[in-house]
Amino acid sequence: MPNRKDHTIADAEHIGPRHVAIIMDGNGRWATQRGRPRLFGHRAGAKRVREIVETCPDIGVEYLTIFAFSTENWKRTQVEVAGLMSLFRRYIIKETRAVHSFGARVRFIGDRVQLDKKLIALMDELETLTENNTRVHLTVALNYGGRDEVARATRRLAEDVAAGKLRPQDVTEETLPTYLDTCVLPDPDLVIRTSGEARISNFLLWQSAYAEYEFVDTLWPDFSRKEFTSLCRSYGIRDRRYGGVKR
Ligand code: IPE
Ligand code: IPE
Ligand code: MG
Repeated sequence: MPNRKDHTIADAEHIGPRHVAIIMDGNGRWATQRGRPRLFGHRAGAKRVREIVETCPDIGVEYLTIFAFSTENWKRTQVEVAGLMSLFRRYIIKETRAVHSFGARVRFIGDRVQLDKKLIALMDELETLTENNTRVHLTVALNYGGRDEVARATRRLAEDVAAGKLRPQDVTEETLPTYLDTCVLPDPDLVIRTSGEARISNFLLWQSAYAEYEFVDTLWPDFSRKEFTSLCRSYGIRDRRYGGVKR
């Protein structure tokens, strides 16, 4: 761990977060404030993603993980859920070229089983197309829930134990996360939630054990490169102790 004591905001980019995860919340309220249907807010929200992704390399963020749809979001009206699913399909088609030429490697986490076949095919295609890109690692959490992820991971782990591939005594803090959807990603350093709610809503429960949190009032469709940069800068001057003492 570097000694953070003497760092100032000016050199914050050198010690900024490597992995930022964002709970993109507030699309519905943004639309309601304008007297428009919730889906209008979701479309505006989707348009913000590109700018945030493209900011990452400039400020040293190597991994960006965004929460697009939770396992609990199926509770919304059929109109909203269907609208979101159609937006995801159209958005992937529309953004594929830009995301690939920018050099982003895209991954999806969450349970795909309940998603429609066409959407799954588009997700697979985008992952394959971008698999050699390294400029920024963009992970989209779609039908993702932290508890669901841990339950699915545990099921696979139990299968391996039953098959004799893993001994119960080998289930540790190191082996368990290799069964999570995020197994190839580092843990998030900073989790940002927009819209003023101070809760994590089942996002990256295991992975965020030592993350720093920023809850901002901005509704997601208004979230900008400037605010993102400023949150990442102030992260750089925080003192993460991981249970130890300040060095
Ligand atoms: C976040 O915005 C997007 C999704 C959950 C899909 P919301 O739709 O939750 O917006 P609010 O919280 O109702 O304003
Ligand atoms: C969290 O937002 C999920 C996403 C941003 C995709 P929600 O709006 O679903 O969370 P709650 O219902 O306020 O906890
Ligand atoms: Mg919400």
